[in-house]
Amino acid sequence: MIRIKNLTVGFNQGTPMEKMVLKKFNLEVNDGDFICILGSNGAGKSTLFNALLGTVDYSGEIYLDDKLLNGIPQHKRAKEIGVVYQDPLRGTAPNLSVFENMLLSTKGRVSFMKKREYKEEAIAELESYGLGLENQLDTAANQLSGGQRQSLTLYMATNSNPKVLLLDEHTAALDPKTQEIVMEITDRIVKEKGISTLMITHNLKTALKYGNRLIILNAGKVVLDISGEEKMNMTEEALLKTYSGNFSDVTLLEQE
Ligand SMILES: Nc1ncnc2c1ncn2[C@@H]1O[C@H](COP(=O)(O)OP(=O)(O)OP(=O)(O)O)[C@@H](O)[C@H]1O
Ligand SMILES: [Mg+2]
Repeated sequence: MIRIKNLTVGFNQGTPMEKMVLKKFNLEVNDGDFICILGSNGAGKSTLFNALLGTVDYSGEIYLDDKLLNGIPQHKRAKEIGVVYQDPLRGTAPNLSVFENMLLSTKGRVSFMKKREYKEEAIAELESYGLGLENQLDTAANQLSGGQRQSLTLYMATNSNPKVLLLDEHTAALDPKTQEIVMEITDRIVKEKGISTLMITHNLKTALKYGNRLIILNAGKVVLDISGEEKMNMTEEALLKTYSGNFSDVTLLEQE
């Protein structure tokens, strides 16, 4: 599905400020994978997303369904790769209403005639979130709560069925209860649509509860990659030791 080969990203190259963030990074994402990504601050998690989105220069290759993404501009990649960021202000058009934002995310799929039909579909979807959004179709996005806005952003990011969904700490700015609600919405959307998903989080509980696979990034390298039963049997304690740099409790991948 996604094949990342020898991905290398550096900033300020050739200057005293040079910083190599990812160095010959490799990762294969299988169709339908829901991967939680953990890693300390500055490990290169967001940079990995930026490379996938084409918002940062890189060397190496990134393939999506065997198609090389190198050289394909950001706006074209956006058709196949949806993204939700931590900041609730980033995903929606702030001055447009909830329904106008939803319409926008259909990318022209809904014609004027079908608008009413689509409204019913939209209301049903919003009702299922349990956040009261269905009663706020005409409210401007900038007047919603963080949880409401992140749910709307999730809807918008997945509405036109991208192949990949990137979530960069998308619940981090929310209170614990709302985090859980938005994670449940996320999980349902990902499962219903079968979108291959990469989710960055700093929350160990979330990383253990959701997804079929978990990776830890450290200094630009994958140091742990577990899935299926191995992930289900992983405990927070063992993960915490790994996470804080004590690698004794888990089998780590060979590092170059
Ligand atoms: N545009 C940039 N210019 C210079 N350095 C950058 C740039 N973007 C990222 N970096 C640096 O690259 C490193 C990795 O950043 P990145 O944002 O990928 O980390 P992260 O794993 O997402 O961390 P966090 O958990 O804090 O979000 C950091 O040291 C950061 O300062
Ligand atoms: Mg980041």
